[in-house]
Amino acid sequence: MILNGEGEKMAIIQNGNQFHLQTKNTSYILGIYQDKYPVHFYWGERLEPDISLEYQAESVSVDRASCFARQLVEGKWVFEPDLKKEFSAVGKGDYRIPTVHARYADGSTVSDLSYEGFRITEGKKELEGLPSLYVFEGDRAQTLELFLKDPDTGLKAALSYTVLEDYDVITRSIRYVNDGPSDPQSASMSGEGGSDIHLLSAMSMTVDLPAAPMQYIQFPGDWARERSVECCDVKHGIASVSSSRGYSSHCNNPFLILKEPSTTEKQGQAYGLALVYSGNFAIQIEKAPVGTIRVAAGLDSFDLDWTLKPGESFQTPETVLAYSAQGMNRLSQIYHRVYRDRLMDQRYLHASRPIVINKYEGTGSDFTEQQLIDIIRVGGEVGAEMFVLDSGWYGRYGNGNSCGDWYVNEEKLPHGLKYLAEEAKACGMQMGLWFEPEMMTVKSDLYREHPDWCLHVKGRESAPIYGRVVLDLSRPEVCEYIIGSVGRQIEEVGLTYIKWDCNRYFTETADQMQAHKYMLGFYHVLKTLTTKYPGVLFEGCSGGGGRFDAGMLRYMPQTWTSDMTKPEERLCIQHGTSYGYPVVSMASHIGQIEVGKNARNPYLEFSALVAMGGNFGLEMDLSLLSETEKAQVKGYVETYKRLRHIICQGDFYRLESPFDGPYTTWEYVSRDRSEAVLL
Ligand code: DGJ
Repeated sequence: MILNGEGEKMAIIQNGNQFHLQTKNTSYILGIYQDKYPVHFYWGERLEPDISLEYQAESVSVDRASCFARQLVEGKWVFEPDLKKEFSAVGKGDYRIPTVHARYADGSTVSDLSYEGFRITEGKKELEGLPSLYVFEGDRAQTLELFLKDPDTGLKAALSYTVLEDYDVITRSIRYVNDGPSDPQSASMSGEGGSDIHLLSAMSMTVDLPAAPMQYIQFPGDWARERSVECCDVKHGIASVSSSRGYSSHCNNPFLILKEPSTTEKQGQAYGLALVYSGNFAIQIEKAPVGTIRVAAGLDSFDLDWTLKPGESFQTPETVLAYSAQGMNRLSQIYHRVYRDRLMDQRYLHASRPIVINKYEGTGSDFTEQQLIDIIRVGGEVGAEMFVLDSGWYGRYGNGNSCGDWYVNEEKLPHGLKYLAEEAKACGMQMGLWFEPEMMTVKSDLYREHPDWCLHVKGRESAPIYGRVVLDLSRPEVCEYIIGSVGRQIEEVGLTYIKWDCNRYFTETADQMQAHKYMLGFYHVLKTLTTKYPGVLFEGCSGGGGRFDAGMLRYMPQTWTSDMTKPEERLCIQHGTSYGYPVVSMASHIGQIEVGKNARNPYLEFSALVAMGGNFGLEMDLSLLSETEKAQVKGYVETYKRLRHIICQGDFYRLESPFDGPYTTWEYVSRDRSEAVLL
């Protein structure tokens, strides 16, 4: 066993040019080849800490194409396409997806970054401006940084690896730095003492896995059909899972599983890769001619051209890597645990999430104050804990036409929001409110005052979708407006829950840089609000589950999983979501169904059981329930209250899949293994 000076076991073991990253059950080993390239040795089941691996580059069979790409490194021929790298640039014979693609002042895009040194530190730093996993003092966590530099261009990269030993995960990200001046001629022309570097692609990580048959599982979807499960063979060429819609989106998810073809839920090797990012992303898989598999993850590079002035740096989003030798279910459990304990806010670690009654599916934006009071009273009777007022309470029109104008519509709610909050309190509930803070409608007062606050191309009119344009969160004054509008209602009404919706994708972004700057502004808004109002639970939403990702979970520990609440469809959506995200993060409510029956309602029962499979709530007009149905709902609420500590905090097992047959079976086992729930 390798110990540090204090006799403690170490998570990162350095042995000459080899770095062995060890979690409780896995090993990830890399080295420095020829003192120049960080190369990948191994990722899999835990190996002996002091194992020493020989790099096998030259023994891999060489295809014709690689012969044209060999280079002499210190007296040895290196075949670039054979090197299993941890980092790769453009223009020196590696034709696979690069980790970085940069353009320099002379127009060239050739980079050659070489290893300069390393540093191992205790713990983990949170990323600047971006969400990331965190650790506490006392956690067994260590960080390795590898420093690379291209002496000809001044581009530097700091590759960061953190081992969260007890959680079985390793995080990776890269910080790129323009360490100019590099080109004295253009430096003197610009008069700024150095040249700009343009990042055309700047991934968070790449890794090369050995040549072997592999499959990947992606989670494609659409509105009301989020995160289905699709298994594909890794074939020669490049497969890409990405979003360029502004958000992670309904259509693709920034989470992917790689597995051996024989791997099932219960057995076999599976590798997970998740991005802690909510904007445009790409996860790409490339099978090289020699069969090795490169996986790259980070920002979507379509149209990227990020300018790094001399001395400036660029931080990429974090990726969370996990490995399971016991199938995909175990892999999911690894993500569930680390997200609950070291991504979501600690305040929610053991606290029960409130059972919400949201009337949106019942009445839409169309309601009267009296209808809300009726729903609140029945909500109290059946034992709900949080009354949430969805869209329709705000602005001049009192509906979706008023996005941006976050003041109460007094025609609809003559006694104001506080009155509803008091009524809810009298019925044993707290009060939550819906916002769509990133949008304004073209009919809003806000648009009249600040038409230029939206994403638009200068001199051209921006086209609304659903009457909405997207506010440009790369502008600090827009972020301040949002913080002020949401914060004011929290304070005035005494809200303890916000449903944060977002109902259209980006169009008319100036460029990809604006899309990433938007995300930086967005995370600033979320961090500010969640820090300032620690008593408020934020739930993410984007036309249902259009932004369900680890970046959101850092600030909003639950997401409205989908606008689809039909239980037979929801089974698939929740099942698919569970691969990458914990059960407690999936808001799942009994939706509006045909009610008013005097006999026991079997469809209500089915809806309730599916909703109980996640973070349970009610999404209906409760005032329409018959007395029998009311008693039914009350029973489900009571049952869930008894079980939620197991469902939300326990380990989750996918026993039967709705994608494979007629039955879906889910099991939840408490962490101390003393209790279980089978659905
Ligand atoms: C989309 C959300 O997913 C719904 O739950 C609801 O909040 C509507 N938006 C309101 O416009």
